Amino acid sequence: MTYKRIIRPLLFKIEPEQVHHLLVNGLKCYRHLSPIRSGIRKKYHTYKPFSYKDIVFPNRIGLAAGFDKEAAVFDELADFGFGFIEIGTVTPHPFDGNPGPRIFRLIDDESLISRTGFNNPGLEIVLDRIKEIPKRNYRLGVNINKDATSTTSEQIVADFSLLFDSFYLFVDYFTLNWGSIDAADFEAVLAQLANLREAKPENKCLFIKLPADIPEAALDTVIALAQRYHADGFIATGPTMDRSNLSSTARTEADKIGAGGLSGKGIGAKSVHVVRYIKSKTQEQFLIIGAGGIMTSQDAKNMLEAGADLLQVYSTFIYNGPNAILELNKSI
Ligand SMILES: Cc1cc2nc3c(=O)[nH]c(=O)nc-3n(C[C@H](O)[C@H](O)[C@H](O)COP(=O)(O)O)c2cc1C
Repeated sequence: MTYKRIIRPLLFKIEPEQVHHLLVNGLKCYRHLSPIRSGIRKKYHTYKPFSYKDIVFPNRIGLAAGFDKEAAVFDELADFGFGFIEIGTVTPHPFDGNPGPRIFRLIDDESLISRTGFNNPGLEIVLDRIKEIPKRNYRLGVNINKDATSTTSEQIVADFSLLFDSFYLFVDYFTLNWGSIDAADFEAVLAQLANLREAKPENKCLFIKLPADIPEAALDTVIALAQRYHADGFIATGPTMDRSNLSSTARTEADKIGAGGLSGKGIGAKSVHVVRYIKSKTQEQFLIIGAGGIMTSQDAKNMLEAGADLLQVYSTFIYNGPNAILELNKSI
């Protein structure tokens, strides 16, 4: 309640990306406040484990990619009750992304529009930061992508291979975004990663993250690729380009904002439909991480009922604060 009544109104007076920097800097200070840290950990800690292969997720609620693109504060974020955290998206080299402003709030519709464009400090810095925290009681994933300057199939495959090899020993899972490169290159990357994985001593998970607007024909294609190249599962889904679930006021606002993926409540039931489709086609073959538009306990239940095993959130953390994570964990 304190978050929604007091903290959020103050934060929402400031431009979204600036709030993000404030939060990251705040968490870097919080890192050194041991007594407060242990109090927060105790308050939000939830142990309701879920196992997949050799990985034990301490609970089923994760933080989606894009919140800690820089791997600057993932360990502190985990204190707020996340069972797993996905850092990135990370590319081999640092990338500035799109010019700002590039994150927008549609407050009444509890949604965000983002066109950040994979800004990140690059592999080297992210890897160093992960190595600084070898002991973790939550699972860590990394969302990887090619450099914007890599255009040929060889360059793209080389970028993903480099990221995969470099992070391999230090994370629990990898995520690739379907739609961020074309389908033929995506298949070449999956084939190469399957080869690399075969030669590794332990098997780290590989997930494919799907966009909310993916048509059924493309879903069938990506499911077949996941089967052929032994991916472990799907994250369904990322943002949508569709604004039809927004209220008319928010739609007018969104028109003024322009291009960008819509996250949060405005995704509506799109992600749930994708989860349900995958589940109906593949039964127990894949791990499914439901994401996109999970704002309330009821949304979480709908995702699980549709077939999700784990859940990932982003927007509800912004709109409802850390208590939302506790509530979600309690409710499932
Ligand atoms: C500001 C912002 C930045 C994001 N950056 C990334 C990213 O770098 N990589 C990615 O895979 N998803 C990114 N996402 C998508 C989220 O991971 C998530 O899939 C999406 O927001 C849907 O979840 P939600 O409805 O709980 O917010 C971003 C989302 C937002 C709002």
